[in-house]
Amino acid sequence: MRVPGDKSISHRAVILAGIAGGETTVTGFLPSDDCLCTLAAMRAVGAEIDPLDGQTEGRPELLRIRGVAGRLQAPEGTIDCGNSGTAMRLLSGLLAAQPFASTLVGDASLSGRPMGRIITPLSAMGARMRGQGDRQTAPLEIEGGKLRPIEYSMPVASAQVKSAILLAGLFAEGETWVVQPAVTRDHSERMLRHFGVPVLQEGQRIGVRGPAVLKGRDFVVPGDISSAAFWLVAAAAAPGSDLTIEGVGLNETRAGVLAVLRRMGVSMAVEVCGGEDGEPWGNIRVRGGALKGTVIEGAEIANVIDEIPVLAVAAALAEGETVIRDAAELRVKESDRIHEVVRRLQAMGAEVEEKEDGMRIQGGRPLHGAEVSSEGDHRIAMAFAIAGLFASGHTKVTDVGCVATSYPGFDRELARFLEGKYPVIAIDGPAASGKSSVARIIAERLGWSVVNSGAFYRGFTWAVLQAGVDPADHGAVEALASEIDFSGGIEGTETVVRVEGRTLRDELTSPAVNAAVSEIARVASVRQRMVGQFRALAEAGPLVMEGRDIGSVVFPDTRYKLYIQASPEVREQRRSAQGQNDSIRERDRSDSERDSSPLRVAEGARVIDSSQLSLSGTAEAAFEALREQGLVIS
Ligand code: DC
Repeated sequence: MRVPGDKSISHRAVILAGIAGGETTVTGFLPSDDCLCTLAAMRAVGAEIDPLDGQTEGRPELLRIRGVAGRLQAPEGTIDCGNSGTAMRLLSGLLAAQPFASTLVGDASLSGRPMGRIITPLSAMGARMRGQGDRQTAPLEIEGGKLRPIEYSMPVASAQVKSAILLAGLFAEGETWVVQPAVTRDHSERMLRHFGVPVLQEGQRIGVRGPAVLKGRDFVVPGDISSAAFWLVAAAAAPGSDLTIEGVGLNETRAGVLAVLRRMGVSMAVEVCGGEDGEPWGNIRVRGGALKGTVIEGAEIANVIDEIPVLAVAAALAEGETVIRDAAELRVKESDRIHEVVRRLQAMGAEVEEKEDGMRIQGGRPLHGAEVSSEGDHRIAMAFAIAGLFASGHTKVTDVGCVATSYPGFDRELARFLEGKYPVIAIDGPAASGKSSVARIIAERLGWSVVNSGAFYRGFTWAVLQAGVDPADHGAVEALASEIDFSGGIEGTETVVRVEGRTLRDELTSPAVNAAVSEIARVASVRQRMVGQFRALAEAGPLVMEGRDIGSVVFPDTRYKLYIQASPEVREQRRSAQGQNDSIRERDRSDSERDSSPLRVAEGARVIDSSQLSLSGTAEAAFEALREQGLVIS
């Protein structure tokens, strides 16, 4: 599998490319809620950022950024950092050094997190900024102005504080230094060098010389090892599993989770594939087996801080004791991660003791399902989804919208983990039974793609007619099949069919196509070709696919099968209400009587008669049936 782009690196790529002169293409950007806040903030100060993958509204992964060459504009209104501590702290450093005022706000969780740790050093540089109350929390009001360089010894090892000071230092005259008490992630340093700014380093002292202007240069964001960690644990704790995650960032200031898992007895192979000059990346292969307890403490903590929730789950599944200490920092994360993790593990039957700076887990007790809330913390939500894979009975994680903070699409991958492959919902039935509308509703609710397999047969039929070939002449149709440039696939949420580069839409339901499609669908070699394409689509993500033989021939092994039917009278009415001239009864006969994959109720399919049902009634009946077939639907 692959995981989405690294969150820390994505924030930094947008900020640094945004202040650089010239253009940068960022590939593999993590379009999570957190990083999209940083993207919006950089737009607000003048950076031009365009998605290049057509995802204008959605979640782009390919960006073109034209930076402001060090001359930021005053933003209009406040800058919203959402749930993101990285956004708020890094942007504070940047904005404190600008000749304009700005205000940074965040959601309830972020507004409870301490910002004094950046206000103190930035104030020492001459910044005029303040938070709210004793704990100096957001909203942060920044007056902005000229800063002087300092040397600052961080009391707590924090890459965000270090990065904020270095960013401010780019705009101060002279050398700004940060001394870190333990090694913290060094993405900012690597990326500054990538953008042409020398980074000074003497042991744990890290500095920049200002003023410095960055030069735009294309950047590739590797997969996020913190996201990979969930699957690494899931695979490692399941004897017999064998998982390779490709394209993961392997920066050694982030890869501590691999060392911890090795100590826990996990058999692992790591292959570095590239990026040694910037961010190293490669493939991680893990095999499942018995886990044993370990100690996670001291300087290692900063390196595994985001992975501790899921490592605590691994510890509960391991034999023996695991101790996590020196991790008080976890109490001021998106939630109090020590307390929240301990409580949830206990709720699932684990033996865990909460400590001021960590926890002690006595592993090996079987976990049982429970209902656990995420407390709005994405890593807790995902860690306990993984725990649920190993718990007996039903586990329900609630309040999971926060997962999009760092891992949009996590639930799709979780479904794949549960079943060993991406799940498919197969919906068959005769023409106009309502199956395509129901398929859409289901796909939308689950966030899966929907495929109208009939559109493939229709597109191919259009091409046959266009070529002047008689549909009844199966030999000629077969001959044409190998010549035509035909492709079908999913774009966004739509099934798209192209012939010779032309995208077909209204053509697919023309009277001529309606009349000929069933004849074409009888041709075995045409069917074979389509079936190959349908199965390939299921390799890329979870699908709802509707047609005639989806449950019986294309995906006979799927657990989720529906057969939606309605009386011929009702279906004829529906077609004419759609303004279509379609000889339903004739197609029914041809589709069910043909030799090759005739329309029939697949083994294990649930039959729903929609004759007397509204569309929403049919959809409800479908959800009910899918639940009974074991699908988890929230
Ligand atoms: O779903 P539809 O009415 O658009 O399908 C058009 C024709 O395509 C249908 O009459 C038979 C054929 N078809 C098929 O044979 N197998 C499928 N899986 C889907 C459609």
